[in-house]
Amino acid sequence: MKLLVCGGAGFIGSTFARQRLLEHGDEVTVLDKLTYAGREENFHDFATHERFRFLHGAIEDADAVAAAIEQGTPLAIVNFAAETHVDRSIAEPDAFVKTHALGTYVLLEAARALAGAGDQGLRYVHISTDEVYGSIESGTFTEESPLEPSSPYSATKAGADLLVASYFHTFGLPVAICRGSNNYGPYQYPEKLIPLMVLNALHGDPLPVYGDGLQVRNWIHSTDFCRAIGHVLEHGVAGEVYNAGGPDEVPNIDVVRRIVALTGAQESQIEHVRDRPGHDRRYSLSSQKVRALGWSPSVRFDEGLAQTVAWYRENAWWWEPIRSGSYRAYYERQYGRALR
Ligand code: NAD
Ligand code: TYD
Repeated sequence: MKLLVCGGAGFIGSTFARQRLLEHGDEVTVLDKLTYAGREENFHDFATHERFRFLHGAIEDADAVAAAIEQGTPLAIVNFAAETHVDRSIAEPDAFVKTHALGTYVLLEAARALAGAGDQGLRYVHISTDEVYGSIESGTFTEESPLEPSSPYSATKAGADLLVASYFHTFGLPVAICRGSNNYGPYQYPEKLIPLMVLNALHGDPLPVYGDGLQVRNWIHSTDFCRAIGHVLEHGVAGEVYNAGGPDEVPNIDVVRRIVALTGAQESQIEHVRDRPGHDRRYSLSSQKVRALGWSPSVRFDEGLAQTVAWYRENAWWWEPIRSGSYRAYYERQYGRALR
């Protein structure tokens, strides 16, 4: 299959590109703006593959999107491109609105032109998040649950989901939406809970737990999420939404304690800090619908976390430039203290 993977230089998009290229024999073009989170290092093992191509550009730039499509008319467009960090959306929401609203619109228009030009086989998969449903105290969200996003991140993601769905209802564009729970694994930028805690633990830095740390997240390994997206791409029904949640729900403080044990850090490094404004208490996703397509998660959290900690230990080349660059300024602004 010929794929255009937007946002494919990020954590999950590059994992998806790798999987489709090396395990499925697909032809993959990545279009990515290379924000702070997009890194060509994420292609280090397949950058020169003959079926892989990288184009630097934004999804809100119609010319860049047209160029990416012309480079090899895709059979499918999979859109990962997004601003993804809740804390940044609270501090600076502008880029979230631009990429999720305008970017999604420009990409949908390009897909509509392609389908209108006779490409009836085109498929379009939009990648979204469980955060669009908001927080749930008990029970589990299904695809029918109402959208009640809490943060500028999740609200703009929900807006993008609604726009994508409207292109199915109004124009018949064959779109599907895949909503994942919290991902973890190699290549995740260290602003997110797990890589941040792993690197701080390894460096002897404080481990900043927001509030009481009893917030619960439903963890899915990035390779499992990417396989679910592959199932939606190959077997999903146009116009449908598919949730893909991980097999384990864990309170944040337990995640941090496990990282302390896996890294040999000290429990005394754990510091409870000011809570995130509007912090969602719990996420939980039912994946029955995507399971019915033949998918199930294969990585349990204990095993996946141990592998992830080992990956960060062994791949300092990947994170050292981040920890020594502009990330330090972000960290100081966010946590009010410098890294070691
Ligand atoms: P990430 O921040 O690691 O990567 C995002 C990528 O998008 C980066 O390469 C960035 O350069 C690119 N990008 C940003 N704006 C762009 C634009 N305007 N045009 C082109 N490229 C742009 O994010 P991630 O964790 O890999 O998330 C990927 C997708 O999966 C997002 O849509 C996110 O909402 C969704 N998602 C993430 C999680 C998670 O836990 N990380 C869970 C569920 C869903
Ligand atoms: P995060 O990885 O930012 O993902 P999300 O907000 O999309 O779920 O955060 C996961 C959880 O960890 C969330 O409840 C916030 C919490 N958290 C901390 O306690 N400390 C931190 O330094 C970070 C980054 C997150």
